[in-house]
Amino acid sequence: MKTILVTGGAGYIGSHTVVSLVDQGYYPLIVDDLRNSSPEILEGITRLTNHSFSHFSVDICDKKALFSLFNQFSIDAVIHFAAYKSVGESCAAPLRYYQNNLIGLLNVLEACERFSVRKFVFSSSCTVYGEPEHKQVYETTPKRLPESPYGYTKWMGEQIIEDLHRNTLPFETICLRYFNPIGAHPSGLIGELPVGIPNNLLPYITQTAAGIRDQLTIFGNDYPTPDGTGIRDYVHVCDVAEAHVKALTYPGAAPLEAFNIGTGKGTSVLEMVHLFQSVASIHLPFVYGPRRDGDITEISANVDHSKAVLGWEAKRTVAEAIRDAWHWEQQRSKSDD
Ligand code: UFG
Repeated sequence: MKTILVTGGAGYIGSHTVVSLVDQGYYPLIVDDLRNSSPEILEGITRLTNHSFSHFSVDICDKKALFSLFNQFSIDAVIHFAAYKSVGESCAAPLRYYQNNLIGLLNVLEACERFSVRKFVFSSSCTVYGEPEHKQVYETTPKRLPESPYGYTKWMGEQIIEDLHRNTLPFETICLRYFNPIGAHPSGLIGELPVGIPNNLLPYITQTAAGIRDQLTIFGNDYPTPDGTGIRDYVHVCDVAEAHVKALTYPGAAPLEAFNIGTGKGTSVLEMVHLFQSVASIHLPFVYGPRRDGDITEISANVDHSKAVLGWEAKRTVAEAIRDAWHWEQQRSKSDD
């Protein structure tokens, strides 16, 4: 059984990936100090996987503790999620973002090199494309400078990996560029745990529907899109999780390869609101507000390369993702009562 070290394995995408890994016969070692998660998620993973994983509460910026884990286990591959991920927060506290996201990445890469790990999967983001010239982006679409320190940490993360490969890094690396992961595990046992007021659209919608927030503000209805609201490529988190499992078996002709992880289809904010209302049969109060700083008009993934080369494509619909996110929210509201 192959052992996969998963940094940030108790996080939103990480936890779903751990469940997919166990489903496919891997043994995940979760390295996560739970600063952005909770024991409730570990409990959910335990129930879904019947204890088939280990968890270590280690900060990846603590190089000594991290290296001691690599020393203790024979690790076949690393999937690196652990990073801060809020665009707005990164603008307010850039140093914290650069320190955590870049030092963490450098430590993990150094450990992979030192302990002869063969494969490394990096959580990247469509933020590396910036505001693209054409709305649908290919992996070969030139990268643009991001809008936030968070975006820069992903952009620089890819650059660091590329530079290492120029000097023949002895392991294969796959960068998965996520578009907008949404939803939750259909069991309702794991899902997203936004800290404080959610920044992302769907958690804000489900919290509004649950009565935690008064109303949704749609950031801008004057974009040059059919209904005036921003368009994104929303992809079910379980599909995103499965892309990581595919990345582990991908033979990797090139030592470094990037894949778009989206559906190829864009959905506007207003369409998301309407879809939520019809899936949940709930009226969602919303108002239009000004555009949010740093938001782009529209982006969606071209997924031809992911389908043809990685053998991955999204299988679930946006409506299913909304249903699962709503189920998760309802479970959580129940447990808070
Ligand atoms: N939106 C609202 N109201 C809200 C929240 C969001 O109208 O309360 C809108 C945004 O303006 C945007 C869309 O919903 O048009 C999606 O916004 P999200 O915050 O859910 O997602 P983003 O596309 O802004 O951000 C995502 C990831 C980031 C990543 C970025 C790259 O969350 O990690 O894509 O483009 F950097």
